[in-house]
Amino acid sequence: MAQPADQFDTIIELGAGTGVITDALVERNPSARLIAFELDPALAGKLAARHPGIEVVAGRFHEQAQILDSLPERALIVSALPFRSLPKEVIRPTTVILARFLMQNVARSLVQFTYQPRTPFDVPTSLTWRWRRVIWRNTPPAGVWELRQG
Ligand SMILES: C[S@@+](CC[C@H](N)C(=O)[O-])C[C@H]1O[C@@H](n2cnc3c(N)ncnc32)[C@H](O)[C@@H]1O
Repeated sequence: MAQPADQFDTIIELGAGTGVITDALVERNPSARLIAFELDPALAGKLAARHPGIEVVAGRFHEQAQILDSLPERALIVSALPFRSLPKEVIRPTTVILARFLMQNVARSLVQFTYQPRTPFDVPTSLTWRWRRVIWRNTPPAGVWELRQG
């Protein structure tokens, strides 16, 4: 999950939770700017305390996403958001923001961690989902999808 982040200076993590992926991102790429979004304020607070060098944003991603407007052309989004179980009123604005962000530049990419074999959410035709790998060490085994232009 954290491996693709090695080549990026700007990384956005969605649904950081307890910070397992955050820890790996910081360890693998300590000089990158990392912005982590987490709905639960208690988890967000713990994450900010554990990683004072990153930016932690508490609350629903789609209501706090203005920071994306000021990011450089090249950036990676790493997402563990549970799209198949989120409410419709959250999925729609969240995916619209993500699609717009990726369509702004070909150097942007999203990797999505999922337990489902199908594509995580519907996207415009200019974006393409690609199945990347299974992480067998995860319980249960999890899949990684990548979304980008082309
Ligand atoms: C699969 S869990 C996180 C797994 C994470 N890698 C960990 O180590 O705990 C998904 C996380 O997404 C968060 N979440 C759900 N909806 C969200 C939203 N709209 N914006 C930001 N975070 C959200 C949940 O609170 C939860 O912590």
